[in-house]
Amino acid sequence: MKSKINDIKNSIGSFEINSIDQLEAFRIKFLGSKGLTKELFSELKNVPNEEKKEIGQLLNQLRTDAELKYEDSKKTLIQSQKTANDLDLSRPGESFEIGSHHPLSLVKREIISIFSKIGYIVSEGPEIEDDWHNFSALNFPPEHPARDMQDTFFIEKGEKEIALRTHTSSVQVRVMETSKPPIRTISPGRVYRNEAISARAHCFFHQVEGLYIDKGVSFADLKQTLLYFAQEMFGEKTQIRLRPSYFPFTEPSAEVDVSCTLCNGKGCNVCKYSGWLEILGCGMVDPNVLDSCGIDSSEYTGFAFGMGIERIAQLKYRVTDLRLYSENDIRFLKQFKSGI
Ligand code: PHE
Repeated sequence: MKSKINDIKNSIGSFEINSIDQLEAFRIKFLGSKGLTKELFSELKNVPNEEKKEIGQLLNQLRTDAELKYEDSKKTLIQSQKTANDLDLSRPGESFEIGSHHPLSLVKREIISIFSKIGYIVSEGPEIEDDWHNFSALNFPPEHPARDMQDTFFIEKGEKEIALRTHTSSVQVRVMETSKPPIRTISPGRVYRNEAISARAHCFFHQVEGLYIDKGVSFADLKQTLLYFAQEMFGEKTQIRLRPSYFPFTEPSAEVDVSCTLCNGKGCNVCKYSGWLEILGCGMVDPNVLDSCGIDSSEYTGFAFGMGIERIAQLKYRVTDLRLYSENDIRFLKQFKSGI
């Protein structure tokens, strides 16, 4: 009996377990209900009484050895399977989403880059403005009907009116007040107007306004600057046309159209068969504005222009519903991934 136990002990020790199948074979052979340890236990009754205790102990030890080997091997196998999975170089890579810039940021950056090539610097200012910077300094006298052109969100009414800025011309007032000509600056930023939200209007949008003040700045300079911008933005064949308009802070004032980017001026449904698309407002800075901001209008002249970033993005990307820009729908934003 003792030598039998010894033999089994040896074969437990030398049994190779390198796979789940071998592990199962080991269990069946040594620990199963018809396995070798069970069989030996059933032979215990034939052992003479005086040896029973010793043999019994040997058998218990044998079973414990087999169980230990089984548990250890099982653990090692599971562990090695895990690492094998982790290290499987042929597994497909986990994909991850690359973010994208918002289309309005893409257009804003492009506008900034176009103007910075001709010496314009970027200036920024507060979105909550006082009446002076948003209106009065820009030649909107109190009660002037032109104030109604821009439906304002007022924060405080009364002596010192505070409102959300309706245009970034307010930033240009701040620049004129604090610096000396020559001034060449563009002011990108968010502006607010109290309008019902629809596909064609929103209560907030984004602008880039430009200002150039120096000795002898003329309307021809303005026109050439805008032609340069339009051709950089929409392609070298782009033409511009200026139509007379009115703004309290510029005189003369004009509205600028570019030749339709879709049909090149032939007429299509984007340009409503006119061949032209309106993109911005502009004009020569009114001498009253220069004087209000501490710049001598007998010495200096200047021009200003202002455009909506949404409008430019709309023409560039053919997005017809303004609301898409602020809804943060990932399906919309994803389409601008290739932008830089
Ligand atoms: N501030 C004007 C607007 O918001 C745009 C503009 C700027 C027009 C400068 C003329 C000159 O509508």
